[in-house]
Amino acid sequence: MDLWQAFEARATVRTFDDRPVPADVVVKAVRAALRAPAYNHLWEWGFIQVHDHALRSSLADATSLEDVSDPDLLAVKFATLPEAARQIYLRALPLQRTMLLEAPGLLMPVYRPKRGEHAPEGPADLNAHAAIWMAIGYMLLSFVEDGVYGCTIPPGRSKEAQRLLGVPADWETATLLPFGYPGGKVVRSAHPTDVEAFLHSDRFRGFSLPTTPEPLG
Ligand SMILES: Cc1cc2nc3c(=O)[nH]c(=O)nc-3n(C[C@H](O)[C@H](O)[C@H](O)COP(=O)(O)O)c2cc1C
Repeated sequence: MDLWQAFEARATVRTFDDRPVPADVVVKAVRAALRAPAYNHLWEWGFIQVHDHALRSSLADATSLEDVSDPDLLAVKFATLPEAARQIYLRALPLQRTMLLEAPGLLMPVYRPKRGEHAPEGPADLNAHAAIWMAIGYMLLSFVEDGVYGCTIPPGRSKEAQRLLGVPADWETATLLPFGYPGGKVVRSAHPTDVEAFLHSDRFRGFSLPTTPEPLG
């Protein structure tokens, strides 16, 4: 698979079949992560595989991860979003906890934050956070080459989750990453293709696509 095939194949997948993902596929994905740039050349990262099901359940509790499927609630919550974005939330929210419990694999990438990350004075204070997300992107592309997909779910409250996995309190969790072989046909959501709208020359011309009335977290 060449790089562009991987870019085009990658998608977020939230339902999986039962087939376990071979250990070497996970090792390869972590090897890919370690090819990512790191702001301080230290790669202070960990990728914790969570096999134990009771532990996964405690993790879901610790991060308050719930499936939200009440159609009325969802309709109100996302009423102002453009249709394509609303469809993603309607598909995703009923599966947030289920994914964590039922995906054949679960990774929790953790990192040592840069001092200042919690009260940033500018984007550079988020460099440690940014760097591990590059690594996560590399992992997802490596997975794609092996037919494996996943979903990134950054946890709301993670200190208890970290304690459960023995992660020091001064580290952070970038995301929870359930992964596996897709449970059905991979649904690829539309991505922008209008490069002109994104590529600027000498001067930012503004953002020309619909924006949300208020940013969603
Ligand atoms: C930083 C980040 C946070 C995300 N959080 C969630 C999440 O909490 N739950 C979820 O189901 N998907 C989450 N996603 C996946 C996005 O919904 C998905 O990437 C987006 O809809 C585009 O779809 P695609 O990945 O299939 O191209 C997240 C993605 C990113 C990059």
